[in-house]
Formats: sequence, C-alpha cells, structure tokens
Amino acid sequence: MPDEGSATAAGAGVPLDVTDGPWPATTAALIRLAAAARPPRPEDAPEDAGSDHAPADSVERLWAQVEVAAAARHGGEPGVPALVPAALQAAARLWLRDGGDTGPDRDRLAARLDALPGNGRPRVSLAPGGPLVVEGRPAIVDHLGRPLELGDPTVLCRCGGSAVKPLCDAACARDGFDDGKDPDRVPDRRDTYPGVQVTVLDNRGICQHSGRCTDRLPGVFHAGGEPFVTPSGGRMDEIVRAVRDCPSGALGYAVDGIEAREQADWGGTRAPSIEVTQDGPYRLVGGVEVVSAEGAAVPRAEGASPEHCALCRCGHSQNKPFCSGMHWYVEFRDPVADPDHVPSVFEWAGGLPALLRMTRIFYERHVPADDLLGPLFASMSPDHPQRVAAWLAEVFGGPAVYSDGYGGYHRMLSMHVGRRLTEQQRARWVELLTRSAGDAGLPNDAEFRSAFGSYLEWGTRLAFENSQTDARPPQNMPMPRWDWHTSAGPPGSRVSALPADAAASPPDPAPDLPAEGEPLRFDPHVRSLFRAGDRRSMSFAFDLWSHDDVRAHAPAILERLRNGSMPCDGAWPAERIGLFARWIEEGAQ
Ligand code: HEM
Ligand code: SF4
Ligand code: FES
Repeated sequence: MPDEGSATAAGAGVPLDVTDGPWPATTAALIRLAAAARPPRPEDAPEDAGSDHAPADSVERLWAQVEVAAAARHGGEPGVPALVPAALQAAARLWLRDGGDTGPDRDRLAARLDALPGNGRPRVSLAPGGPLVVEGRPAIVDHLGRPLELGDPTVLCRCGGSAVKPLCDAACARDGFDDGKDPDRVPDRRDTYPGVQVTVLDNRGICQHSGRCTDRLPGVFHAGGEPFVTPSGGRMDEIVRAVRDCPSGALGYAVDGIEAREQADWGGTRAPSIEVTQDGPYRLVGGVEVVSAEGAAVPRAEGASPEHCALCRCGHSQNKPFCSGMHWYVEFRDPVADPDHVPSVFEWAGGLPALLRMTRIFYERHVPADDLLGPLFASMSPDHPQRVAAWLAEVFGGPAVYSDGYGGYHRMLSMHVGRRLTEQQRARWVELLTRSAGDAGLPNDAEFRSAFGSYLEWGTRLAFENSQTDARPPQNMPMPRWDWHTSAGPPGSRVSALPADAAASPPDPAPDLPAEGEPLRFDPHVRSLFRAGDRRSMSFAFDLWSHDDVRAHAPAILERLRNGSMPCDGAWPAERIGLFARWIEEGAQ
C-alpha cells in the first residue's frame, strides 16, 4: 500500500508524488483515496517516490494513469474497484477546472478526459472516509432545481467540512472523517399501520425528518406522537401522495395486503437526479445506485425505497451514508448567499420544487374536481404538472428546462391550438392556480403576487386566443420572461393570433424598395421594411423606425432575421434579409 505521500493508480504502476507535485490539496487527496481504495499490488512499490517530477511530466503521468485505470475497469480487470478510475478522473477534472498548471496543453488534456468512456448507470460510490464519487451523469441540481454543472465524474463532500460545497475540497482527508454508523441510532425496523383503505408502512430508522409528511397531513402523521401514523386521519389519495413525496424512502403503503412499492416509487418515471438541498442532505431520486468503493450495493434498511433516498451531507448522521436528520441538530449551514443579490421571481417563489408543488396541487386536486376544467385535462400526460412547472420556472427567470427538455414555445403552442377554450375556463384556470399557489405555500407578499398574477392574466389570454378555431398564432414568439418590472407593454405591442379587424387596422403599406442603381438608404428603404406592429413589439428595446437605433443594433437584428426568430409572425423572405445585410455592408447610411 502506498504511503501517505505517494500513490499509484490502478494498473499504471507509476508512482506519483502527490505532496511535492503540482497537485492542489483536493487532487492529491483524491489520488490518495483512489489508490487506497483498492487492494495493494506488487507494482505499487514506489520506485521513485519523493523524486521531484517536473509539472509537465507529472501531468502526463496523471493522465496516463487516469486512462489506464479507465481502460482497466472497462476491460473488466478484476481488482480495480469502480471508485479508482472515477476518483482519478474527477481529480484530473477538478485540477483542470481550478487552473492547474497545464500551459498550452489545457484543451488537449480536457479532450483526453472527455474521450474516456463514462459509467453508463448513474451511481454514487462511497470513498472510505472520504467523499461521494458521482458517475453516469445523473442531473445534479440545487435546492431551487437549477442544474449544477459539476462535470462527470464529480466528487461531492459528505463530511460537511468542505469550503467549496457541494464539491469535496479534501477537508475529509485533512480533518479526518468517520463514516461509520452510530450504534445508538434509531433501530432499522419496519412498522405497519393498518387503515380501512390503505396500510401505511414506515421505517423510523431511515427517516431524515424532513417534516414533509407531518406538515402536510398532521391528522395522519404525528410529529413526536404515538402512534406515528393513523391512516384513518386522511383521504387515501392524500396519503399516497405524502408517501410518494417522502424523500428518505422511509414510507411505503399497501392496499389489500399488497405493498405498492412501484406506485410509491413513481412508477419508475423519475429521471435519475441528485438534489443538493439547502442546509441538508443530498436527495437521490430516479434509482441512482449507492455503492461501496468496490462497486457493491450498499445495504438498505428494511423496506427502504430502491428509487429514492437521502444521503448525509453534514457529516453527523447516525446512519451514514444515509441522512438521519442530524443536520438540523448540528445547525449545518450552506454558505449564505450574497446579501446584495436581488432574487428573480423564480427564486423568490421557491424555485422549481415550489412551482411543482403548486402545479401538482392544481392538476391533481383542484382540476379533477372542477366541472369546467376536469374534462379538459382528463387525458393530460402524466408529467403535465412537471411540464407546466418547468414552463413557469423558465418564464420567471429560472433555468431553460422547458425550452431545452420539453419542446419550448412550439410545443406549448401546439397543445393549446384548436382547443377552443372559453372565457369561463380561462378565468377558472387563473382562479384555481392562484388558490393552488396559496395551498403550496408560495409567497403571499404584494410584490410577488403582483408579478405572478399579472403573468397569469396575460398568459391565459394568449392561451385563450391561440386556442380559437380562426386563430393564426405567431410561430416564432420568444419564451416570455417575467421579472419584477415586466408587464405586457402597451396595447398592440403583441402580434395577435386572432384575425385583425380590417377597419381598425388598415393593411401595412408595401415596402419602399430602391430602384435599379439607386443607393440603399435607411430612409425611405430600410425603414419601410419594418411594419408598425414590428416597431411596437420592439419598442421596449429600441425604435425600429429610428436610423440611429437600427444602425446601433444592426448585427443583432440581422442575426434574428436570419435565424427566423424575428418577426415573430413569420420569417422574412431571403431577398429582403439580403437587402438588410447589403445595407449594413454599404455603411448603414
Ligand atoms: C399562463 C397560462 C398558461 C400556461 C403557462 C400554460 C402552459 C401550458 C403548457 C406548457 C402546456 C404544454 C405541456 C406539454 O409540454 O405537454 C399546456 C397544455 C395545455 N393547456 Fe395550458 N397553459 C396556460 C393556460 C391554459 C388555460 C387557461 C387552459 C384552459 C382553460 C389551458 C389548457 C391546456 C390544455 C388542455 C393543455 C393540454 C394538456 C394535455 O392534454 O396534455 N392552458 N399548457
Ligand atoms: S423523511 Fe419521510 S417519514 Fe421522515 S419526516 Fe420526511 S416525509 Fe416523513
Ligand atoms: S445531512 Fe447529515 S444527517 Fe442529514
């Protein structure tokens, strides 16, 4: 086994001096962990440990070891635990990210790392006395549901001491970290609470004390009381929803004596993901595996969900690697956000989790019970609440989850077109969604409700318009963005989907194009390409009938014309775009 100062990665047989080399503490610690995580082999004998490698030489050695280790694992070489190549790869990536001394070779080295085969299945390996190594690209998101781009594989802190949370900075190696279970922890025992329609199953030994069940259904789940569960205190559908939302996997339910594990685990529909909660554990959903350094499944408690669990991030759990709720008692805190940061409407609302809570209450509780809306959504897709929450998150300044993952504006439009919604349905939609916002605990302050409510009033009117039989909705509208200062703009600033009233809005005049050999000028030619409606739509940014404004924004306007996203009711013909481009080339006079 290599000593503290030097380590050899799997297969390469080349010792690395990790104390005197160019490695920062994290990288060095990870290399040590990677090496220590596997059984010793004869070629580990440190032939030249302590020699003073030149940085470039050391970099080559690390990369060679990373590649050999990855190849050994993928070639199925026995004795190469999963953690070794992953930890080495993560170490190399961290080192690149933190500006390791690679000189002109940075891109080449990054490309070598990217070329390594990844682990297909999303999983978390436990480094003994060290961090969590995440592979297989599960989504890693913050407590608001925003993706954290941490690289693959990545190394997450589980001792609670890292200064760069959620990443590991080797605090575990520096300060020591005991990853064992407390013998006095709550016993691993599954209890059964029979009810008339549903029996609740519960293992206190893995509860992470999120309080979700007790806050949501205090008549069924009793904080600090005995018995913990009285199923007769709530409706069956409410209990099932509470069980499905238990983040630790402690809860389950059975109907007619048969456990509904599959249903409690969301029927396998959730994508593998890890949420870094605020001041609390990692929440794994979607069946992310938890394995030892050797790749063996970590034993789960009796009846625990295989689909979701909570892993300790504070270092104090009595039931490591799982969370036992100790983070609350030890007052584990993430770094405080910049006090001068003005939150977006999305952040203030509570992010994607809060918006999803709201849409689920709306579509699962209020809509089915409503005579006007119930039939309309009777055959909605099962993930409709997620989709609408993703749309709203993006509108209010959150990540582009709907545009990137669900089809963006065109998809939303296509789902409303032809539905012939009525004004009564529209108004009911607003009423019930507003009620759901209250039920889901979204903020109730005047500023938030003003921004939120104004978007609902605006957005539902567009949905109504676009759904009419004679509607011709614009095809290229950008994703709406609603911040604290946005409103929809003055009347007419939007291209209507409904046929224009001919008397009220006379047709736009034909553009005034230059005659053969006539010089191309802003006035009258280019100005006449923009219609009155185009001008109104862009008035929030600049004036399309002002020579100075159009000259100043000419490249951006040309780009939008070329990619067809402007005007929003249909792209210009190629000759007209060519004319605008020529005007720029000829000096934008
Ligand atoms: C701000 C207002 C609204 C927003 C943000 C919104 C959002 C959305 C989105 C994103 C979708 C597509 C989901 C997907 O990707 O499949 C959708 C579909 C749909 N929307 Fe809306 N909507 C709004 C207003 C309304 C109103 C007022 C109604 C009816 C009263 C309505 C009825 C529907 C229906 C019936 C579907 C199709 C559901 C299905 O069968 O899957 N929407 N909406
Ligand atoms: S972890 Fe599950 S059982 Fe424990 S408090 Fe949270 S919801 Fe309830
Ligand atoms: S995060 Fe450590 S006990 Fe919950």
